[in-house]
Amino acid sequence: MESKWRHQKLYPILGTLGIFSLLYLNFDFHFPVVVWRLPEMAFVGVNRTRFVLLHDGRQDDFYVNGWNSYWLMQESVRAPSRRRVAQMLHRGAQMGLTVCRTWAFSDGPSPNALQLRPAVFDPTLFKALDYVLVEARKQGIRVILSLVNNLDAYGGKAQYVRWAREAGINVSSSTDSFFSHPIIKGYYKAYVKAILSRKNYFTGVKYSDEPSIFAWELINEPRCESMSCTSDLQAWIAEMAAFVKSLDQKHLVTVGLEGFYSLNSNDSHRANPGKWAAMLGSDFVNNSAIKDIDFASVHAYPHSWIPEADLEAKVKYLSRWVDAHISDGENVLKKPVLFTEVGAPLSNETGGVHDRETILKTVYNKIYESAEKREAGAGVLIWQLLVQGVDEYRDKFSFIAWKYPSTYKLILEQSCRLKNVSSEVYTRNKKDPCFSHMGK
Ligand SMILES: *[C@@H]1O[C@H](CO)[C@@H](O)[C@H](O)[C@H]1NC(C)=O
Ligand SMILES: *[C@@H]1O[C@H](CO)[C@@H](O)[C@H](O)[C@H]1NC(C)=O
Ligand SMILES: *[C@@H]1O[C@H](CO)[C@@H](O)[C@H](O)[C@H]1NC(C)=O
Ligand SMILES: *[C@@H]1O[C@H](CO)[C@@H](O)[C@H](O)[C@H]1NC(C)=O
Ligand SMILES: *[C@@H]1O[C@H](CO)[C@@H](O)[C@H](O)[C@H]1NC(C)=O
Ligand SMILES: *[C@@H]1O[C@H](CO)[C@@H](O)[C@H](O)[C@H]1NC(C)=O
Repeated sequence: MESKWRHQKLYPILGTLGIFSLLYLNFDFHFPVVVWRLPEMAFVGVNRTRFVLLHDGRQDDFYVNGWNSYWLMQESVRAPSRRRVAQMLHRGAQMGLTVCRTWAFSDGPSPNALQLRPAVFDPTLFKALDYVLVEARKQGIRVILSLVNNLDAYGGKAQYVRWAREAGINVSSSTDSFFSHPIIKGYYKAYVKAILSRKNYFTGVKYSDEPSIFAWELINEPRCESMSCTSDLQAWIAEMAAFVKSLDQKHLVTVGLEGFYSLNSNDSHRANPGKWAAMLGSDFVNNSAIKDIDFASVHAYPHSWIPEADLEAKVKYLSRWVDAHISDGENVLKKPVLFTEVGAPLSNETGGVHDRETILKTVYNKIYESAEKREAGAGVLIWQLLVQGVDEYRDKFSFIAWKYPSTYKLILEQSCRLKNVSSEVYTRNKKDPCFSHMGK
């Protein structure tokens, strides 16, 4: 097979953005942001079950090795912490990672909320998100922006329901009204519209035109409180995905599902981690089949889902889970399947690195095998990576990759072998971390 590492082709530096090689000194931001030489980037599209980079007159297959750092906007608000965001994106690029998933929401009365009240925004937070996009583009990283949380962290759907109640609207105590109440759906749409039509403070580019955005994610991990909301959730996804598409035809849209199957879902519910998983109101196939959903999203947390199982049983379970989703993507949905959160904790400060790597390797190998066959397994995003100094965002699945040399190597090798099966013409550039993998 001909080596994919073809001849030198430097990214055309300086697209239209390059004209604005400006130094912004902004007092309300308290520090300068240099915006120059932003590399050109192709938008991402879908061709059947593959992601493709859309160049003029050419498509390149694109398999994803990436990560989550949900905290990028929060850390971009103030000058001292902002360099940690730049550092995280740079470190990601050094591992050959190409996609980062992060929160484009922070709802509620809390400090550092982006949305203070329905459709009322804190301009400083918006600039922080602008900065994340600039920094990502500088590093050649594409971001998946999630638009609301199902969970309570950073406001979430519960905050939307509280806003409705505070406005005197008669909503039930269940947060399921988030998916059905017309006024609450109106709040969400107003929010989405504000984000998609946002003009980046540093570059002047509208978010809907920004190529460093890989995709919009409607909601992180949607679940219902009662089973009666199942059809509301299905209808909500269809309505909101269509709404995003009506405002933005350049970007992909995904749901943000964990990937659980309902009991009606043929035999696939056998891949669920337990009976409970079919009772959460979501159905991977039905929810992902919606026309305006471009690719399916899945999470994987064997340590949380089947805590009693030993490592071998976890790996066996995980393999089945990954196979079931890739097969559904390939045969039923005919869409790419992106594993947008895969996580495993350490048992303590020093122990369990092998276990975490075994979990990661299991999914990495499945994705690589699928990519080699041009099937629907489109990539993995680790949950989640940190840098020094951002401990407040730590959960038990978070880690600083370069503290674990063998994990770092595993991640880098996955990046490079996926680049090798992608058809993009890569730069023969010493800065490319896969340079040494491709020989001379
Ligand atoms: C999808 O990819 C195939 C094979 O690479 C190509 O022939 C086809 O034109 C692409 N389809 C679209 C709609 O671009
Ligand atoms: C609020 O809605 C519930 C059912 O949706 C209804 O039973 C109740 O009467 C309503 N309360 C008011 C004050 O309108
Ligand atoms: C899928 O959604 C449709 C409504 O859009 C519903 O009739 C059907 O029962 C759902 N199937 C599953 C497996 O949830
Ligand atoms: C169930 O399987 C049939 C046949 O393979 C397929 O056409 C259908 O879409 C599947 N439905 C679901 C909800 O997976
Ligand atoms: C940490 O975990 C490892 C592996 O699970 C174990 O071998 C080791 O004894 C643990 N160390 C401490 C201090 O608990
Ligand atoms: C890239 O692919 C070629 C041909 O299939 C193979 O010989 C080479 O080992 C691969 N390199 C990496 C880093 O996977």
